[in-house]
Amino acid sequence: MEIYFEGKTVVVTGAARGIGGGIVEGFVARGARVVALDLLEDGLAGLAARVVPGRGGTLETRMADGANGDEVHAAIAACGPVDVLVHAAGGVRGQAPKPFETVSEAEWREIYDANAGFAFHACQAVIPGMKQKGGGRIVTISSGAGLKPSLTGIQAYCSAKHALVGLTRQLAHELGPFGITVNSVAPGFLRTSPDYERQWQSYGEAGQQAMIERIPMRRLGEPADIAHAVMFLASDYASWITGQVLPVSGAPFP
Ligand SMILES: NC(=O)c1ccc[n+]([C@@H]2O[C@H](COP(=O)([O-])OP(=O)(O)OC[C@H]3O[C@@H](n4cnc5c(N)ncnc54)[C@H](O)[C@@H]3O)[C@@H](O)[C@H]2O)c1
Repeated sequence: MEIYFEGKTVVVTGAARGIGGGIVEGFVARGARVVALDLLEDGLAGLAARVVPGRGGTLETRMADGANGDEVHAAIAACGPVDVLVHAAGGVRGQAPKPFETVSEAEWREIYDANAGFAFHACQAVIPGMKQKGGGRIVTISSGAGLKPSLTGIQAYCSAKHALVGLTRQLAHELGPFGITVNSVAPGFLRTSPDYERQWQSYGEAGQQAMIERIPMRRLGEPADIAHAVMFLASDYASWITGQVLPVSGAPFP
């Protein structure tokens, strides 16, 4: 099976590093015109220097804060009609677990904005163009934290990822008649960003070894592992798959 995206416009949120960055690299290498959104300017510059285009693939980077609906709509409107939206932005925004009664509203909202609010704005921005074209693909990056309690212990993260899974399923139901599929990939643990690296270091050597031994495939994931699943769901081969959450975790569980 060969998957290419020549002639397709792909928007990736949370693209500056880690999983989003790996997804951008995968699509650009397979011929897509990719528009990468994030609020990390240096990360976007690094990404532009790193990608290796194939089959005429191109990359445009745009700064946008997912908490700001106007910014997201403006950045996506400038792309023209979008064929594929991948919402990878999210994460725990530098936060650490603490008792729920001590979580501030600002902390709660920051994680919600990144994971769920950004998805609300980005999906609203691409759907009219997809309906006009008669089809499209939306893939969200959720987490095991969208299906069960989170390893991070961060309540807003678990809650926002559950919201993202709910939005994925509801939009699949609503948009199917327009030829638009909506699915989610739930990654296992990856050492992608300072937040996840801190979590990994907190386990200590014995805890890290135990974590790897709990994974049947006996290794942590890499951004390319997630990108491959996303590109399958974004391809013509997945045209009858919608509303699904696919764990990509080296294990039968998310
Ligand atoms: N790394 C893991 O172990 C893991 C596991 C499961 C799910 N995930 C999810 O995968 C996705 C990618 O995470 P990652 O591992 O690459 O690390 P990450 O958390 O660093 O990636 C998140 C990206 O989203 C961007 N972002 C966050 N808030 C934003 C906002 N308001 N506006 C614009 N951009 C914003 C960040 O700048 C960053 O580039 C996230 O949604 C994360 O929750 C990661």
